[in-house]
Amino acid sequence: MYEDIEQILFDERDICRATEEIASRINSDYVGCCPVIIGVLKGSFIFLADLVRKLNIDFKIDFIRASSYGEKTDSTGNVKIISDITTDIMDRDVIIVEDILDTGYTLSYITEHLRRSSPKSIRICTLFDKPCRRIVEINPDYTGIVIDDLFIVGYGLDYNEKYRGMPNIGIPKMRSKKTKE
Ligand code: PRP
Repeated sequence: MYEDIEQILFDERDICRATEEIASRINSDYVGCCPVIIGVLKGSFIFLADLVRKLNIDFKIDFIRASSYGEKTDSTGNVKIISDITTDIMDRDVIIVEDILDTGYTLSYITEHLRRSSPKSIRICTLFDKPCRRIVEINPDYTGIVIDDLFIVGYGLDYNEKYRGMPNIGIPKMRSKKTKE
């Protein structure tokens, strides 16, 4: 099924370890709090599901969906909210959960969008960070694994909607020499 993967970069144990480290930091940072954890669809769904099962604090869950790479054609990234949260986040602590932070367009747009609802705080959590690709200045509060400029798939991350269910992280053959466009 995933025979066209050229190289596995991170296996399930690597991902689990990174997720545990983030969960442990969130557990100690939010003792006695009940943050609203907002997953950015679609890519974050597997990471989010694993992350929250390692939390020992109260939390609420919601989801937000923004436009995809293909639509990021101008200098702002042309990001749009396709599906918004329904939770009232006014005066609430918010943690935005992403699978990957790349140019920063998506998270920067989503953060500004959520700020308009006057949350008490917003922190950003991402499993993967590609700082070498950043265009918009944005720094995650919780990072699992920092990677180079490689196009990765698996564990929620796709290429044309494929590979999201792959349990590990790899580079598909046809994209091994290029990052995303
Ligand atoms: C990916 C990823 C982030 C975003 C990061 O989503 O899940 O949301 O791109 O890229 P950026 O920092 O350059 O904005 P994508 O648009 O591929 O949609 P998906 O989550 O539905 O796969």
